[in-house]
Amino acid sequence: MQRIPNMLTAEEAAALIRHDDVIGFSGFTPAGAAKVIPTAIAAKARVEHAAGRDFKVGVITGASTGPSLDGELAKADAIKFRTPYQSDKTLRESINAGKTHFFDMHLSLLPQYVRYGFLGDLNWAIVEAADVSSDGKILLTTSVGASPTFLSKAKHILIEVNRYHPKELLGFHDIYELKNPPHRRPIPLVNVEDRIGTQRVWVDPRKIVGIVESNRPDEVRNFAQHSAATQKIGDNVATFLSDELKAGRIPKSFLPIQSGVGNVANAVLGAMGEHPDIPRFQMYSEVIQDSVIELLNAERVSFVCGVSLTLSSTVLQEMYANLEAYQGRLLLRPQEISNNPEIIRRLGIISINTALEADIFGNVNSTHVLGREMMNGIGGSGDFTRSAYISIFTCPSTAKGGNISAIVPMCSHIDHSEHSVQVLVTEHGVADFRGKAPRERAALVINNCVDPSYRDLLWAYFKLTENGHTPQSFRSAFAFHETFLKTGDMRNTRF
Ligand code: COA
Repeated sequence: MQRIPNMLTAEEAAALIRHDDVIGFSGFTPAGAAKVIPTAIAAKARVEHAAGRDFKVGVITGASTGPSLDGELAKADAIKFRTPYQSDKTLRESINAGKTHFFDMHLSLLPQYVRYGFLGDLNWAIVEAADVSSDGKILLTTSVGASPTFLSKAKHILIEVNRYHPKELLGFHDIYELKNPPHRRPIPLVNVEDRIGTQRVWVDPRKIVGIVESNRPDEVRNFAQHSAATQKIGDNVATFLSDELKAGRIPKSFLPIQSGVGNVANAVLGAMGEHPDIPRFQMYSEVIQDSVIELLNAERVSFVCGVSLTLSSTVLQEMYANLEAYQGRLLLRPQEISNNPEIIRRLGIISINTALEADIFGNVNSTHVLGREMMNGIGGSGDFTRSAYISIFTCPSTAKGGNISAIVPMCSHIDHSEHSVQVLVTEHGVADFRGKAPRERAALVINNCVDPSYRDLLWAYFKLTENGHTPQSFRSAFAFHETFLKTGDMRNTRF
């Protein structure tokens, strides 16, 4: 017999959560993140702490979330550990103060880590839905993330049915879960637009302990306006790709694009849409940002699939008002499918991600400010970069008004090594590393990508040592960083 799960208030749901529980929350960026229950859990934590009792939970999500989840739980000091990605200011401060243990991981690996039991037992899945049926079919909202895995692995389930999201989202999700080795099969996805799974997540309805109703928009921040530098970076990427097309190294029909997160990525996509020599293209990506919807609307992108609709509220509302126009042109997938190396290599995806810093030999740091402070995490950038047809990294050549050079002698932390990074693009130009040895790479980076105010300094570093396949000086490799910490300006560096 089918059973109607209990309707609960957020507070009643939070009352069920115990100290030390591990929770898999929906959310991939603030899109589709659980909102009212985590906020109520944070309130419970404050009460428990005030009464002198311990209360912290393990927080696993698809990627980052919004203020109602990471923000509230971090402010209440209620997070025992956090994985796989975050972008909340309070949580970031807690991580960098060493108070919250953060495990930064490739997003494609998270679901299988949970299935393999690498993160321990999952006590709860707390998932936002647009609808749930009494026989346990759950219609997700603006993201899929790792929710199918949380829902299948957790002992108990709480659902936030968020009326803000229409039930007409049915048909925009493609839910497919991988089996664990030795039973895993090839993923039957050979075209960007292939559907391989179900429209809803199916769970055992007996695991659903309660449903909480809400009506809350996603908490997606607006993007910064394109600056002259980000616009130029976008133009440089678009010109590079159009030249590759002319040279026949990209097929005439073009290849699917993956584009990263943040302001720079948003500007790059905008420029690709405007470039006259880039044909209409498909996107096999992770985060679907505002610029992607603009490209779909302008018919510059013919099909997009990703994990989340991370859209500003205006763009999401416009889309919801005209949802049928996007059926068959947009699909949301689980992160282990969108970011899966098998698929990325098979489809020949061109990856475009953002670096915080790069070094003259082509290593890239996407996560750590000055080698120590966590920014957000590696996210899906490693998943795509390592398996891409062409892997591109972009960044403005300087940060903090020119006081920091984004190109340094040696990266202060390395997320993507020279073995995976094929092209580096700044507002000044392009360094194409394919088939180039370290000394050749350094010359390309210094001549083409570095800000002119740092060029002589980087040449001076490069000439410090004549020896080795990759000429490095242990004494001076971090002189840029040291000088910035001492004087506030890397341009004061002296070797
Ligand atoms: N040293 C110190 N600070 C730096 C820096 C450097 N080398 N380079 C940039 N910054 C600072 C900027 O000044 C800015 O600071 P502010 O917020 O105080 O203004 C901040 O870092 C963000 O820079 P911005 O140029 O606005 O970047 P963005 O919004 O395009 O984001 C990343 C860039 C790298 C942080 C972001 O893309 C990211 O988290 N990437 C990792 C995950 C990923 O790539 N996911 C995509 C996979 S699909």
